[in-house]
Amino acid sequence: MLTNKPKTKLLVDGGDPEETLRIKGLIGFVDGQTTSPSLIAKNPDIQRRVASGPQLSEQEEKDAYKKIVQSISPLVGAAGVSIEVFADLSSRAEEMLAQGQEMFTWIPNAYVKYPCTHEGLRAAEMSVQQGIRVNMTLCFSQDQAAAVYAATRGSKEPVYVSPFVGRLDDQGEDGMDLVRNIKKMYEGSDGHVHVLAASIRSISHLLCSFFLDAELATVPSKVLQEWAAAGFPLPDRNFTYKAVDARGNPLKPIPYRKVDLNVPWDTFDPAQELTSKGIQKFVADYQSTLRRSA
Ligand code: E4P
Repeated sequence: MLTNKPKTKLLVDGGDPEETLRIKGLIGFVDGQTTSPSLIAKNPDIQRRVASGPQLSEQEEKDAYKKIVQSISPLVGAAGVSIEVFADLSSRAEEMLAQGQEMFTWIPNAYVKYPCTHEGLRAAEMSVQQGIRVNMTLCFSQDQAAAVYAATRGSKEPVYVSPFVGRLDDQGEDGMDLVRNIKKMYEGSDGHVHVLAASIRSISHLLCSFFLDAELATVPSKVLQEWAAAGFPLPDRNFTYKAVDARGNPLKPIPYRKVDLNVPWDTFDPAQELTSKGIQKFVADYQSTLRRSA
């Protein structure tokens, strides 16, 4: 069991309460959990229902999602459970907000996940005004993180922004640089946005997230198990991160840009191809569980 707790809060990136319970037993605690339509589609009960007989209706899928997060909710600590709205590329902020309002009532420690798009940011702005905690997902640029900061200014609760490290690595860019750059950009800010390192694929990503003082990291159980098996290593002051892909090829650095956070959020450009692809992947995974209408 872990005795030397990192400052970074640890979240399980998954959609299965049994898995969260196993990880809690292994580490001794779990600070929070992130879920998504893709992770919910992989939940063992949903997989069983989809494999045997008719697939789910939209209502059944929503009910199943609610049941899953209600089982996870009491297992985790103060970092809460992130629940993602079902959005496609044409979803309007008002539709996302309506879902967010409902999902926020499912559990007492909910964070509503919206994508870092113009409409997602608009939904976040309205949400924080209503006291709804938010996690802004699919973040691939400093501009998106700046827009999150500006759109949610004044939030009484911490707002999460989730830079997706592994997916930047997948296209040859150093995803850890995005975490580093966002942390630097927020230095001297009012601190209401917390950086949640996401799309963590290795112990090396995890240690670098600790080293960069990310407030939170969401980690698949496989990586947490590897970390436990390695004896829960933590980075020391001389930690160096090897920015290489799975084959050992160097990743391209992402340069830091100086950004003024004190401007209206819609002056930032949130358009990112990886965000659009991420939304499309969530839609495809969500639809894979749904009954086809005749
Ligand atoms: C976070 O909220 C996401 O579920 C997750 O970290 C995405 O990871 P992936 O890029 O490995 O799918």
